[in-house]
Amino acid sequence: MSTSVDPSSSETNLVVVGGARLEGTIRVGGAKNSALKLMAATLLAEGTYRLANVPRITDVALMSDLLRATGASVHWDESGPDAVLVIDIPAVIEPVAPYELVEQFRASIVVLGPMLARCGEARVALPGGDDFGPRPIDMHVRGLSELGVEFETSHGYIHASAPNLRGARVLLEFPSVGATENLLMAAVRAKGATVIDNAAREPEIADLCELLNKMGAKIEGSGSSTLLVEGVEELHCADHTVIPDRIEAATYLAALGIAGGEVTVEGARHAHMAMLCQKLGEMGMRISPDADGIWAFAGGRLRSSDCSTLPYPGLATDFKPFLVALLATAEGVGIVTENLFSGRFRYVDELRRMGADIRTDSHHAVVRGVERLSGAPVKAHDIRAGAALVIAALAADGETVVSEAHHVARGYDDIAAKLRGLGADVRLA
Ligand code: UD1
Repeated sequence: MSTSVDPSSSETNLVVVGGARLEGTIRVGGAKNSALKLMAATLLAEGTYRLANVPRITDVALMSDLLRATGASVHWDESGPDAVLVIDIPAVIEPVAPYELVEQFRASIVVLGPMLARCGEARVALPGGDDFGPRPIDMHVRGLSELGVEFETSHGYIHASAPNLRGARVLLEFPSVGATENLLMAAVRAKGATVIDNAAREPEIADLCELLNKMGAKIEGSGSSTLLVEGVEELHCADHTVIPDRIEAATYLAALGIAGGEVTVEGARHAHMAMLCQKLGEMGMRISPDADGIWAFAGGRLRSSDCSTLPYPGLATDFKPFLVALLATAEGVGIVTENLFSGRFRYVDELRRMGADIRTDSHHAVVRGVERLSGAPVKAHDIRAGAALVIAALAADGETVVSEAHHVARGYDDIAAKLRGLGADVRLA
């Protein structure tokens, strides 16, 4: 895949024939939710950055285009055994994030902080909602205002200016991942110290802190809910390797849980997904960390369990569609509660088309496991929902066609080929 997005790329289907047991080793790629933020962080200082273990997915191509819109150049260096993303940030950047790109991926809002830190101003298109409801940015705005940023909104753009960023104490109402990241990337260049309280603790934020510190930032408390940032006058470019994608790893564990078999998810970090592993253990899987990643075994029909999403280290909201798919064929009834996003149950209608017995009411889904699902034409509404349908299809009789699979490609580098490597019958068509 090039780093540029092909707007003509047509919709594709993932075709899955259920029934195969999964065996072998599957390698997890770099974390999407980290790579996108690390790419945004490069805007903070001139120079050439080499980012290793960046996943070759559509969202990375979109972020590459967003960096190019500021004047950067971005390409893959394929000279070594693994491709490296090379980003050249010029001495002067244009602090603008155009609508055409922002509307395609919400994570683009994280360029706001670095642009403000670097240029004292930014013009970023207002992100819209998406398939799982409105996703406001009020906490980003409130936090950055504490740092001296002034905001004006007109013609669908946020115009932010901060000629003199200054450190401040910011207490987040909720540990928002995006707001924590924007605040961090602004605070590293603010005058004086910033304290971010009730910060998000996701491993992807710790990864961002690591790159920022390599660039000369002074951040303490990485991985905790209080981040201390001492602003510095200057930052410089650095190289970095992206952490493994815990959501992709979770996808393969769930695939194993529903299909049965024995799999090693190479590169996965058990510590980044301990709560999920515990939950899957409760449901009857055997999971343990090993030298290569995570080893897992699923011997028969899983047992139901109640699941509730929470900020890290709780069960990630991104895991929820996979858990619902697993519960769809587990023995008993499981209640799933969504505590982060509203309306993140659209894929449930698709699972019902495959014979799942699921009732939803506001933030809850009651999943009554059935013995077997049946293959059907279904539609992917977003990245994780699409992956959940693929997981469910592995345990369905006959063929399932997951349409609009381009959503899945936003977050997975060839999921079909990877699952085929374990013996599953999955192809793009
Ligand atoms: C990131 C992840 C996403 C994950 C989510 C929660 C990326 C690219 N995406 O999204 O996969 O599901 O974290 O772990 O990293 N909120 C507000 N106001 C704000 C900001 C957030 O009300 O200013 C609300 C959101 O609507 C949501 C909750 O806070 O209900 C959590 O959002 P947040 O943690 O910010 O998620 P993202 O950073 O958008």
